[in-house]
Amino acid sequence: MTNSRLAPPVYNYKVVHQFALATVLWGIVGMAVGVLIAAQLAWPALNFDTAWLSYGRLRPLHTNGVIFAFGGSALMATSLFIVQRTCGARLISDGLASFVFWGWQSIIVLAVITLPMGMTTSKEYAELEWPISILIAVVWVAYAILFFGTIAKRQQKHIYVANWFFAAFIIAVAILHIVNNLAVPVTLTKSYSIYAGTVDAMVQWWWGHNAVGFFLTAGFLGIMYYFVPKQAGRPIYSYRLSVVHFWALIAIYVWAGPHHLHYSALPDWTQNLGMAMSIILLAPSWGGMINGIMTLSGAWDKLRTDPILKFLVVSLSFYGMSTFEGPMLSIKSVNALSHFTDWTVGHVHAGALGWVAMISIGAIYHLIPLMYGRKAGEMYSIKLIDLHFWLATIGTVLYIVSMWVNGLMQGLMWRAVNSDGTLTYSFVETVVASYPGYVVRFIGGGIFLGGMLVMAWNIWRTWQVTREELATGILPAQEALA
Ligand code: HEM
Ligand code: HEM
Repeated sequence: MTNSRLAPPVYNYKVVHQFALATVLWGIVGMAVGVLIAAQLAWPALNFDTAWLSYGRLRPLHTNGVIFAFGGSALMATSLFIVQRTCGARLISDGLASFVFWGWQSIIVLAVITLPMGMTTSKEYAELEWPISILIAVVWVAYAILFFGTIAKRQQKHIYVANWFFAAFIIAVAILHIVNNLAVPVTLTKSYSIYAGTVDAMVQWWWGHNAVGFFLTAGFLGIMYYFVPKQAGRPIYSYRLSVVHFWALIAIYVWAGPHHLHYSALPDWTQNLGMAMSIILLAPSWGGMINGIMTLSGAWDKLRTDPILKFLVVSLSFYGMSTFEGPMLSIKSVNALSHFTDWTVGHVHAGALGWVAMISIGAIYHLIPLMYGRKAGEMYSIKLIDLHFWLATIGTVLYIVSMWVNGLMQGLMWRAVNSDGTLTYSFVETVVASYPGYVVRFIGGGIFLGGMLVMAWNIWRTWQVTREELATGILPAQEALA
């Protein structure tokens, strides 16, 4: 599958198409594991007393699957698409593009094998052992060369703002990954971090928070700055705001990591600094959200008929919501209640499902038809996209509302004391009280996953219909679909 009727043959769409399909595939796999672990929290017998099906091993499989396999593939598909379109230049090397695709997929397969086997560094979102970590660094550098090399040979003087966000994402993730993964290997499958104690925790959460800031936010803002104006058919609301948004966001995000370590052995001033920076972070985050949503000024009516635009705009609302909630959670007195509870998990998925997944889904619906020589967004069934939109929205809302209720309840029950100073509730009582929330979260996750299956079917049918149209001559013949 290469170039399309609408795209000049100058672009390498093969790698974009591969990553777009990988996004859907890994989205389904990663979320299916999410639904399974959600079910295990309600019905623990579902681990079938099998080590590799146990919660502790499947949870990192879920997080790696959805963040790096699903999210990573979406970021690579869109960044490699956008950089070519906005620079008017083909990727610098087809071979390197293939290496990035297959390299990234093999890392994912290695994760799928090693994590259920129990091989882990035990650092969250950086669980993969040292040989895989090195492979990640190599593939990432190749990706950086591909991206920046294409920027260097651009036909336009100007570098569109979406590329700035991708550039920050690529550079920051490279630095964070390498620094946080420095370790002493003891065997092929076990290593120990070179950092110890509190320093290890600080480096880990410097990575952890910036995985949120640069992997789950900056890159997806790059997606937003290209696809929202494209799909709405309007220029971005304020280009000046986008530049201020960019510099403010990257300057502040890197300081916020200590909010993950409140009331720990980390020096107090560091915790307070992290809290202050997190609160300030509300401003650039909302600047970005407003810039995206206001791009629809004068085109609001399109929301009635265009479900792809609905995905993009609703994702921005969830982005606004989670970046309001995040600064609240970083306030030490709020964190004293929320930390360790399901409130954090609700916050995570407001960002992960509502923002990251929904903006990716919208972008993929926009670009997949282009890969087949159709118009942007011209999928087999618009009704099915609409159905997917509602499944995704309802699934996300059920997930986050059930976790808010559970989180607040757990926090309040844990701290409730009787007049004689003893605890009012035992821990087990809070687990029992959380059960209904876990069932609702499982249902919400299942609904969201159902939407992903609808998407896969719609893409499959789009491909089939395109083949039929080519055979009957409705679409001009193209080597791409031969
Ligand atoms: C069908 C959709 C999904 C379901 C049912 C689901 C379910 C879960 C469950 C049950 C957990 C463990 C919570 C706990 O330990 O208490 C979890 C954790 C997590 N999930 Fe998901 N998830 C889904 C989609 C996603 C997506 C799309 C992303 C990211 C793009 C994501 C990112 C995460 C992260 C980062 C954590 C760790 C949270 C933490 O440590 O606080 N999930 N998920
Ligand atoms: C202004 C923006 C944000 C701020 C200030 C913020 C702040 C926070 C805080 C305070 C926590 C709880 C830490 C704890 O008690 O352990 C947290 C957890 C988390 N947030 Fe955010 N958040 C923001 C936006 C987002 C977004 C947009 C996403 C996802 C796309 C996200 C993903 C996460 C994840 C994955 C965790 C759980 C980390 C873990 O414990 O494993 N956050 N965030």
